[in-house]
Amino acid sequence: MEHLRIPGPTPCPSEILQAMSKQMINHRGGEFGQILNGVTAKLKQLFQTKGDVFLLTSSGTGGLEAAIVNTLSPGDKVLSVAIGVFGERFASIAEQFGAEVIPLRFEWGKAADAYAVRQALHTTPKIKAVLVTHNETSTGVTNDLALISSVVKEFDKLLLVDAISSMGSINLPVDDWHCDVTVTGSQKGWMAPPGLAMVSVSQEAWQAQAQAKMPRFYWDFAKAKSYLEKGQTPWTPAITTIFALSVSLEMMLKEGLANIIARHARVGQATRDGIKSLGLSLFTEEGCASNTVTAVAASDGLDTKKLLRILREEHGMVLSGGQQSLDGKIFRIGHLGWVTEGDIEAVISALKVVLPQAGFKQ
Ligand SMILES: Cc1ncc(COP(=O)(O)O)c(C=O)c1O
Repeated sequence: MEHLRIPGPTPCPSEILQAMSKQMINHRGGEFGQILNGVTAKLKQLFQTKGDVFLLTSSGTGGLEAAIVNTLSPGDKVLSVAIGVFGERFASIAEQFGAEVIPLRFEWGKAADAYAVRQALHTTPKIKAVLVTHNETSTGVTNDLALISSVVKEFDKLLLVDAISSMGSINLPVDDWHCDVTVTGSQKGWMAPPGLAMVSVSQEAWQAQAQAKMPRFYWDFAKAKSYLEKGQTPWTPAITTIFALSVSLEMMLKEGLANIIARHARVGQATRDGIKSLGLSLFTEEGCASNTVTAVAASDGLDTKKLLRILREEHGMVLSGGQQSLDGKIFRIGHLGWVTEGDIEAVISALKVVLPQAGFKQ
Protein backbone atom coordinates (compact mmCIF):
# COMPACT_ATOMS: atom_id res chain seq x y z
CA MET A 1 0.00 0.00 0.00
CA GLU A 2 1.21 3.50 -0.83
CA HIS A 3 1.78 6.08 1.88
CA LEU A 4 -0.43 8.81 0.48
CA ARG A 5 0.83 12.04 2.04
CA ILE A 6 -0.64 14.64 -0.26
CA PRO A 7 -3.04 17.36 0.94
CA GLY A 8 -6.08 15.49 -0.35
CA PRO A 9 -7.39 13.04 -1.25
CA THR A 10 -6.31 11.57 2.07
CA PRO A 11 -6.21 7.89 3.10
CA CYS A 12 -9.42 6.30 4.40
CA PRO A 13 -9.43 3.97 7.43
CA SER A 14 -10.76 0.44 6.81
CA GLU A 15 -14.12 1.15 8.54
CA ILE A 16 -14.71 3.86 5.97
CA LEU A 17 -13.63 1.69 3.04
CA GLN A 18 -16.07 -0.97 4.25
CA ALA A 19 -18.90 1.57 4.45
CA MET A 20 -18.33 2.28 0.77
CA SER A 21 -18.97 -1.32 -0.25
CA LYS A 22 -22.65 -1.12 0.77
CA GLN A 23 -25.40 -1.60 -1.82
CA MET A 24 -27.14 1.54 -3.20
CA ILE A 25 -30.32 2.76 -1.51
CA ASN A 26 -33.19 4.96 -2.66
CA HIS A 27 -32.11 8.57 -2.24
CA ARG A 28 -35.79 9.53 -1.90
CA GLY A 29 -36.43 6.93 0.81
CA GLY A 30 -36.52 6.95 4.61
CA GLU A 31 -33.19 5.18 5.17
CA PHE A 32 -31.32 7.80 3.17
CA GLY A 33 -33.20 10.56 5.01
CA GLN A 34 -32.01 9.22 8.34
CA ILE A 35 -28.41 9.04 7.18
CA LEU A 36 -28.55 12.55 5.67
CA ASN A 37 -30.07 14.02 8.83
CA GLY A 38 -27.45 12.28 10.99
CA VAL A 39 -24.57 13.45 8.81
CA THR A 40 -25.90 17.02 8.74
CA ALA A 41 -26.28 17.15 12.55
CA LYS A 42 -22.75 15.83 13.06
CA LEU A 43 -21.30 18.27 10.54
CA LYS A 44 -22.95 21.14 12.41
CA GLN A 45 -21.13 20.05 15.57
CA LEU A 46 -17.79 19.93 13.77
CA PHE A 47 -18.41 23.23 11.97
CA GLN A 48 -19.34 24.64 15.41
CA THR A 49 -22.47 26.20 13.97
CA LYS A 50 -26.17 26.35 14.71
CA GLY A 51 -26.75 27.64 11.17
CA ASP A 52 -27.47 25.56 8.08
CA VAL A 53 -25.06 23.01 6.66
CA PHE A 54 -25.59 21.38 3.27
CA LEU A 55 -23.99 18.52 1.41
CA LEU A 56 -23.39 19.28 -2.27
CA THR A 57 -22.33 16.51 -4.61
CA SER A 58 -19.18 18.02 -6.09
CA SER A 59 -15.55 18.63 -5.29
CA GLY A 60 -14.64 21.58 -3.09
CA THR A 61 -14.57 23.99 -6.04
CA GLY A 62 -18.29 23.42 -6.56
CA GLY A 63 -18.81 24.58 -2.97
CA LEU A 64 -16.80 27.74 -3.71
CA GLU A 65 -18.96 28.42 -6.77
CA ALA A 66 -22.06 27.86 -4.63
CA ALA A 67 -20.79 30.40 -2.09
CA ILE A 68 -20.40 33.01 -4.82
CA VAL A 69 -23.58 32.50 -6.84
CA ASN A 70 -25.83 32.29 -3.80
CA THR A 71 -24.71 35.56 -2.22
CA LEU A 72 -23.72 37.94 -5.04
CA SER A 73 -25.09 39.71 -8.08
CA PRO A 74 -23.19 40.66 -11.26
CA GLY A 75 -21.45 43.97 -10.67
CA ASP A 76 -21.07 43.45 -6.91
CA LYS A 77 -17.67 44.43 -5.59
CA VAL A 78 -15.79 41.73 -3.70
CA LEU A 79 -12.47 41.98 -1.93
CA SER A 80 -10.34 38.95 -2.72
CA VAL A 81 -7.75 38.28 -0.01
CA ALA A 82 -5.41 35.89 -1.83
CA ILE A 83 -2.24 34.23 -0.57
CA GLY A 84 -1.86 31.47 -3.16
CA VAL A 85 -3.35 29.34 -5.91
CA PHE A 86 -6.67 28.64 -4.20
CA GLY A 87 -7.27 32.26 -3.20
CA GLU A 88 -6.81 33.16 -6.88
CA ARG A 89 -9.26 30.42 -7.88
CA PHE A 90 -11.95 31.76 -5.53
CA ALA A 91 -11.51 35.22 -7.10
CA SER A 92 -11.67 33.77 -10.63
CA ILE A 93 -15.01 32.15 -9.90
CA ALA A 94 -16.42 35.46 -8.67
CA GLU A 95 -15.05 37.20 -11.76
CA GLN A 96 -16.52 34.59 -14.14
CA PHE A 97 -19.96 35.27 -12.69
CA GLY A 98 -19.60 39.02 -13.18
CA ALA A 99 -18.42 40.28 -9.78
CA GLU A 100 -16.03 43.19 -9.73
CA VAL A 101 -13.05 41.69 -7.95
CA ILE A 102 -10.74 43.97 -5.98
CA PRO A 103 -7.58 41.89 -5.50
CA LEU A 104 -5.59 42.12 -2.29
CA ARG A 105 -2.60 39.84 -2.79
CA PHE A 106 0.09 38.84 -0.34
CA GLU A 107 3.45 37.24 -1.01
CA TRP A 108 3.12 33.48 -1.37
CA GLY A 109 4.38 31.77 1.78
CA LYS A 110 3.04 34.51 4.02
CA ALA A 111 -0.33 35.06 5.67
CA ALA A 112 -2.71 37.89 4.87
CA ASP A 113 -2.24 41.04 6.89
CA ALA A 114 -5.50 41.95 8.63
CA TYR A 115 -4.37 45.58 8.80
CA ALA A 116 -4.15 45.69 4.99
CA VAL A 117 -7.63 44.14 4.80
CA ARG A 118 -8.90 46.94 7.04
CA GLN A 119 -7.20 49.55 4.81
CA ALA A 120 -8.76 48.04 1.68
CA LEU A 121 -12.22 47.99 3.23
CA HIS A 122 -11.71 51.53 4.45
CA THR A 123 -10.59 52.96 1.11
CA THR A 124 -12.85 51.02 -1.29
CA PRO A 125 -16.51 51.91 -1.05
CA LYS A 126 -19.39 49.51 -1.58
CA ILE A 127 -17.62 46.18 -1.14
CA LYS A 128 -20.27 43.52 -0.63
CA ALA A 129 -18.21 40.50 0.40
CA VAL A 130 -14.71 39.40 1.33
CA LEU A 131 -13.27 36.15 -0.02
CA VAL A 132 -10.67 34.47 2.20
CA THR A 133 -8.86 31.14 2.17
CA HIS A 134 -8.50 29.88 5.73
CA ASN A 135 -5.75 27.41 4.90
CA GLU A 136 -3.87 27.96 1.63
CA THR A 137 -2.94 24.45 0.55
CA SER A 138 -0.62 25.61 -2.23
CA THR A 139 1.75 27.42 0.16
CA GLY A 140 1.12 25.68 3.50
CA VAL A 141 -0.14 28.83 5.20
CA THR A 142 -3.02 29.28 7.65
CA ASN A 143 -4.52 32.75 7.78
CA ASP A 144 -5.54 34.33 11.09
CA LEU A 145 -9.21 34.03 10.22
CA ALA A 146 -10.45 35.19 13.64
CA LEU A 147 -8.63 38.49 13.18
CA ILE A 148 -9.59 38.90 9.52
CA SER A 149 -13.19 38.13 10.41
CA SER A 150 -13.23 40.76 13.15
CA VAL A 151 -12.09 43.34 10.58
CA VAL A 152 -14.60 42.21 7.96
CA LYS A 153 -17.43 42.38 10.47
CA GLU A 154 -16.31 45.79 11.72
CA PHE A 155 -17.28 46.93 8.19
CA ASP A 156 -20.35 44.68 8.17
CA LYS A 157 -19.38 42.76 5.02
CA LEU A 158 -20.19 39.19 4.06
CA LEU A 159 -17.36 36.75 4.80
CA LEU A 160 -17.03 33.85 2.35
CA VAL A 161 -14.44 31.32 3.48
CA ASP A 162 -12.59 28.58 1.64
CA ALA A 163 -11.97 26.17 4.53
CA ILE A 164 -11.52 23.19 2.22
CA SER A 165 -8.24 22.02 3.76
CA SER A 166 -8.79 23.27 7.32
CA MET A 167 -12.31 22.53 8.53
CA GLY A 168 -12.39 19.50 10.79
CA SER A 169 -8.60 19.65 11.29
CA ILE A 170 -7.78 23.22 12.37
CA ASN A 171 -10.04 25.17 14.71
CA LEU A 172 -12.69 27.14 12.82
CA PRO A 173 -15.71 27.99 14.97
CA VAL A 174 -18.03 29.16 12.19
CA ASP A 175 -20.53 31.00 14.41
CA ASP A 176 -17.99 32.60 16.76
CA TRP A 177 -15.97 33.86 13.80
CA HIS A 178 -19.07 35.03 11.91
CA CYS A 179 -18.33 33.15 8.71
CA ASP A 180 -21.26 33.58 6.33
CA VAL A 181 -20.50 30.76 3.92
CA THR A 182 -17.79 28.23 4.78
CA VAL A 183 -16.76 25.49 2.37
CA THR A 184 -14.92 22.21 2.85
CA GLY A 185 -14.52 18.96 0.90
CA SER A 186 -14.93 15.32 1.89
CA GLN A 187 -11.50 14.26 0.60
CA LYS A 188 -9.54 16.50 2.98
CA GLY A 189 -9.55 16.26 6.78
CA TRP A 190 -12.68 14.10 6.77
CA MET A 191 -10.95 10.79 5.95
CA ALA A 192 -13.55 10.20 3.23
CA PRO A 193 -13.20 9.96 -0.56
CA PRO A 194 -13.80 12.89 -2.92
CA GLY A 195 -17.38 13.61 -3.97
CA LEU A 196 -18.90 16.03 -1.48
CA ALA A 197 -18.56 19.70 -0.70
CA MET A 198 -19.97 20.65 2.69
CA VAL A 199 -21.06 24.25 3.18
CA SER A 200 -22.40 26.29 6.08
CA VAL A 201 -24.78 29.19 5.51
CA SER A 202 -25.39 31.98 8.06
CA GLN A 203 -28.50 34.13 8.53
CA GLU A 204 -26.71 37.04 6.82
CA ALA A 205 -25.87 34.77 3.90
CA TRP A 206 -29.58 33.86 3.60
CA GLN A 207 -30.47 37.55 3.46
CA ALA A 208 -27.91 38.00 0.69
CA GLN A 209 -29.27 34.89 -1.01
CA ALA A 210 -32.72 36.42 -1.27
CA GLN A 211 -31.25 39.40 -3.21
CA ALA A 212 -28.47 37.65 -5.18
CA LYS A 213 -28.92 37.65 -8.96
CA MET A 214 -26.03 35.55 -10.20
CA PRO A 215 -27.32 32.60 -12.26
CA ARG A 216 -27.67 29.40 -10.26
CA PHE A 217 -29.53 26.17 -10.64
CA TYR A 218 -27.60 23.16 -9.33
CA TRP A 219 -26.03 25.17 -6.50
CA ASP A 220 -29.17 26.89 -5.20
CA PHE A 221 -29.02 26.87 -1.37
CA ALA A 222 -32.78 27.47 -1.16
CA LYS A 223 -33.40 24.22 -3.04
CA ALA A 224 -30.90 22.40 -0.80
CA LYS A 225 -32.73 23.70 2.28
CA SER A 226 -36.22 22.79 1.12
CA TYR A 227 -35.12 19.26 0.18
CA LEU A 228 -33.17 18.78 3.41
CA GLU A 229 -36.39 19.47 5.29
CA LYS A 230 -37.68 16.27 3.61
CA GLY A 231 -34.46 14.35 4.35
CA GLN A 232 -33.32 14.65 0.74
CA THR A 233 -30.98 16.50 -1.60
CA PRO A 234 -32.36 18.24 -4.71
CA TRP A 235 -30.24 16.10 -7.06
CA THR A 236 -29.00 12.51 -6.91
CA PRO A 237 -26.26 12.65 -4.27
CA ALA A 238 -22.93 10.78 -4.08
CA ILE A 239 -24.53 8.13 -1.87
CA THR A 240 -21.32 6.11 -1.45
CA THR A 241 -19.39 9.13 -0.26
CA ILE A 242 -22.21 9.95 2.16
CA PHE A 243 -22.00 6.38 3.56
CA ALA A 244 -18.28 6.96 4.04
CA LEU A 245 -18.74 10.39 5.61
CA SER A 246 -21.36 9.05 7.98
CA VAL A 247 -18.80 6.61 9.44
CA SER A 248 -15.96 9.12 9.45
CA LEU A 249 -18.05 11.67 11.33
CA GLU A 250 -18.84 9.06 13.99
CA MET A 251 -15.12 8.37 14.32
CA MET A 252 -14.34 12.07 14.50
CA LEU A 253 -16.91 12.80 17.19
CA LYS A 254 -15.63 9.83 19.19
CA GLU A 255 -12.11 11.28 19.06
CA GLY A 256 -13.51 14.74 19.86
CA LEU A 257 -12.95 17.94 17.92
CA ALA A 258 -10.50 19.39 20.46
CA ASN A 259 -8.42 16.19 20.33
CA ILE A 260 -8.46 16.17 16.52
CA ILE A 261 -7.27 19.79 16.42
CA ALA A 262 -4.55 19.00 19.00
CA ARG A 263 -3.44 15.93 17.01
CA HIS A 264 -3.11 18.02 13.84
CA ALA A 265 -1.12 20.62 15.78
CA ARG A 266 1.26 17.91 17.08
CA VAL A 267 1.60 16.30 13.68
CA GLY A 268 2.17 19.70 12.02
CA GLN A 269 4.89 20.54 14.53
CA ALA A 270 6.50 17.11 14.13
CA THR A 271 6.58 17.64 10.36
CA ARG A 272 8.19 21.06 10.63
CA ASP A 273 10.72 19.83 13.21
CA GLY A 274 11.52 16.79 11.08
CA ILE A 275 12.04 18.90 7.96
CA LYS A 276 14.42 21.21 9.78
CA SER A 277 16.31 18.27 11.28
CA LEU A 278 17.12 17.21 7.71
CA GLY A 279 18.67 20.61 6.97
CA LEU A 280 15.73 21.72 4.82
CA SER A 281 13.85 25.01 5.21
CA LEU A 282 10.16 25.69 5.28
CA PHE A 283 8.81 27.67 2.33
CA THR A 284 6.30 29.17 4.72
CA GLU A 285 6.88 31.80 7.35
CA GLU A 286 7.03 29.91 10.64
CA GLY A 287 4.29 31.73 12.56
CA CYS A 288 1.62 30.98 9.95
CA ALA A 289 2.67 27.43 9.01
CA SER A 290 -0.30 25.15 8.47
CA ASN A 291 -1.07 22.12 10.59
CA THR A 292 -2.54 20.25 7.60
CA VAL A 293 0.09 20.76 4.89
CA THR A 294 3.77 21.63 5.01
CA ALA A 295 5.49 23.36 2.09
CA VAL A 296 9.24 22.77 1.95
CA ALA A 297 11.64 25.00 -0.01
CA ALA A 298 13.69 23.22 -2.67
CA SER A 299 17.11 24.59 -1.87
CA ASP A 300 20.72 23.51 -2.27
CA GLY A 301 20.44 21.64 -5.55
CA LEU A 302 17.31 19.69 -4.67
CA ASP A 303 15.45 18.38 -7.73
CA THR A 304 11.88 18.05 -6.45
CA LYS A 305 10.65 16.02 -9.42
CA LYS A 306 13.41 13.46 -8.88
CA LEU A 307 12.73 13.46 -5.16
CA LEU A 308 9.02 12.76 -5.64
CA ARG A 309 9.74 10.05 -8.22
CA ILE A 310 12.24 8.14 -6.07
CA LEU A 311 10.00 8.43 -3.01
CA ARG A 312 7.09 7.01 -5.01
CA GLU A 313 8.95 4.27 -6.90
CA GLU A 314 11.32 3.07 -4.21
CA HIS A 315 9.53 3.89 -0.96
CA GLY A 316 5.85 3.76 -1.95
CA MET A 317 5.46 7.28 -0.59
CA VAL A 318 3.48 9.90 -2.44
CA LEU A 319 4.10 13.58 -1.68
CA SER A 320 3.04 16.65 -3.70
CA GLY A 321 5.02 19.11 -5.75
CA GLY A 322 4.42 22.85 -6.04
CA GLN A 323 1.61 24.30 -8.12
CA GLN A 324 1.86 26.89 -10.88
CA SER A 325 4.82 29.24 -10.25
CA LEU A 326 5.91 27.04 -7.32
CA ASP A 327 6.44 24.02 -9.58
CA GLY A 328 9.99 22.77 -8.92
CA LYS A 329 10.46 25.31 -6.14
CA ILE A 330 8.75 23.49 -3.28
CA PHE A 331 7.40 20.11 -2.34
CA ARG A 332 4.48 19.55 0.01
CA ILE A 333 3.59 17.00 2.67
CA GLY A 334 -0.08 16.52 3.43
CA HIS A 335 -0.89 15.69 7.06
CA LEU A 336 -4.62 15.94 7.50
CA GLY A 337 -7.34 13.50 8.36
CA TRP A 338 -6.18 10.00 9.20
CA VAL A 339 -2.62 10.82 10.24
CA THR A 340 -0.38 10.28 13.26
CA GLU A 341 3.12 11.31 14.29
CA GLY A 342 4.25 7.81 13.27
CA ASP A 343 3.20 8.52 9.67
CA ILE A 344 5.34 11.64 9.69
CA GLU A 345 8.33 9.76 11.13
CA ALA A 346 8.04 7.43 8.12
CA VAL A 347 8.07 10.41 5.74
CA ILE A 348 11.10 11.97 7.43
CA SER A 349 13.00 8.65 7.41
CA ALA A 350 12.34 8.16 3.70
CA LEU A 351 13.36 11.76 2.96
CA LYS A 352 16.62 11.23 4.82
CA VAL A 353 17.52 8.44 2.41
CA VAL A 354 16.24 10.05 -0.78
CA LEU A 355 17.30 13.70 -0.38
CA PRO A 356 20.99 13.08 -1.30
CA GLN A 357 19.88 10.95 -4.28
CA ALA A 358 17.80 13.93 -5.49
CA GLY A 359 20.75 16.34 -5.42
CA PHE A 360 20.30 17.88 -1.97
CA LYS A 361 23.60 18.88 -0.45
CA GLN A 362 23.41 19.99 3.12
C1 LIG B 1 -7.77 25.46 -0.05
C2 LIG B 1 -8.35 24.72 -1.21
N1 LIG B 1 -9.28 25.33 -1.95
C3 LIG B 1 -9.86 24.72 -2.99
C4 LIG B 1 -9.49 23.44 -3.35
C5 LIG B 1 -10.15 22.79 -4.52
O1 LIG B 1 -10.88 21.71 -4.10
P1 LIG B 1 -11.33 20.57 -5.13
O2 LIG B 1 -10.09 20.05 -5.78
O3 LIG B 1 -11.99 19.57 -4.21
O4 LIG B 1 -12.28 21.17 -6.08
C6 LIG B 1 -8.51 22.77 -2.63
C7 LIG B 1 -8.06 21.42 -3.02
O5 LIG B 1 -6.90 21.09 -2.95
C8 LIG B 1 -7.94 23.43 -1.52
O6 LIG B 1 -7.01 22.82 -0.78
